[in-house]
Amino acid sequence: MKIIGTGSAVPSKSVSNEMLTGFLNTSDEWISTRTGIRTRRILTNEKLEDLAVDATRAALESAKISPDEVDFFICSNVSNNYVTPSLSAIVQEAVGSHAPCIDLNGACAGFIYSLDFADAYLQTDRAKNILILCAEEPTRFCDWHQRETSVLFGDGAGAVVVTKGDGLQSLHLTASPDKDVIYYKRRLENTPYEHRGVDVDEPLVMQGREVFRMAVESSQKDLDIVMTKAGVTSEQVDYFLLHQANMRIIKAIREQIKQPEEKFPTNIERYGNTSSASIPILLDELSREGKLKQDAILALSAFGAGFVTGAAVMKWNTINYD
Ligand code: UT7
Repeated sequence: MKIIGTGSAVPSKSVSNEMLTGFLNTSDEWISTRTGIRTRRILTNEKLEDLAVDATRAALESAKISPDEVDFFICSNVSNNYVTPSLSAIVQEAVGSHAPCIDLNGACAGFIYSLDFADAYLQTDRAKNILILCAEEPTRFCDWHQRETSVLFGDGAGAVVVTKGDGLQSLHLTASPDKDVIYYKRRLENTPYEHRGVDVDEPLVMQGREVFRMAVESSQKDLDIVMTKAGVTSEQVDYFLLHQANMRIIKAIREQIKQPEEKFPTNIERYGNTSSASIPILLDELSREGKLKQDAILALSAFGAGFVTGAAVMKWNTINYD
């Protein structure tokens, strides 16, 4: 599998840490030193579908294929307005594609899980071009009265088109189920057969310190596994693209891998944690800025609610955006 097109989109509204102090007992100092976040983008007058469509169109355009040439469409998403139809079905209608489509909830590791599904389809000749879209609005599942969670997230969408090729060198997924460390619950209707009383939504609940610990530990292990499988050392990796959850998590992983800061590009300072969209947005930015040279070695690693994790090593093929 190789990536032949990338795209991304973020909401127009940028919200600084300072702006949050108007209604939350927090400070720019706390947020920036504990997380590295300075601003985040938040959906206001746009919808998540708009970002998803923009990112998808940009990815198709750079891959130089039409919507009709997409054979399978995977959308990584935790939550959006529609429970059904899937977000992938909604985006397909807007972009004019008719491929089989499915949403996948791999939380913040959704991009790596999607790469794995796509690779299986390509390896079994069930598709030629696959679109992977990660579109997330985590700001809509936080309780904005809770400073512990609401300051951490931002909305965004990132997409890639993949086809057969020699890019993917190794991939590894894990799950060590622990639903209590990080979860978000939706209200369901009562039925005549079961009354749960007043079932209520539960906005994001997170044991921050525990998630931090699991993230650092799992990412380091996963990266070790995928680098060994791919036969590359950390010195040979040009960029480590880590899920953008917290700058301190990235720093802790970097210190264990013992590689220079320049190899760990970030966008968390501008966008906050955009869940599964964070790696594809980063990939799109780096690729469009011309920072990813032909045959550059990339190591990807993500972790999230579940607790699920995924990592991959890829050799990059440059994309022409003209
Ligand atoms: O995508 C995957 C999902 N999430 C993550 O990866 C998040 C992983 N965890 C983290 O990034 C960090 O644990 C946090 C950023 C969430 C929290 O940082 P921390 O250094 O672990 O802080 P803490 O939770 O131990 O809280 C320290 C203090 C507490 O006050 P006391 O009890 O010491 O008086 C909190 O109430 O900081 C307080 N606090 C805040 N203060 C100002 C928590 N949130 C805020 C806030 N502003 N926004």
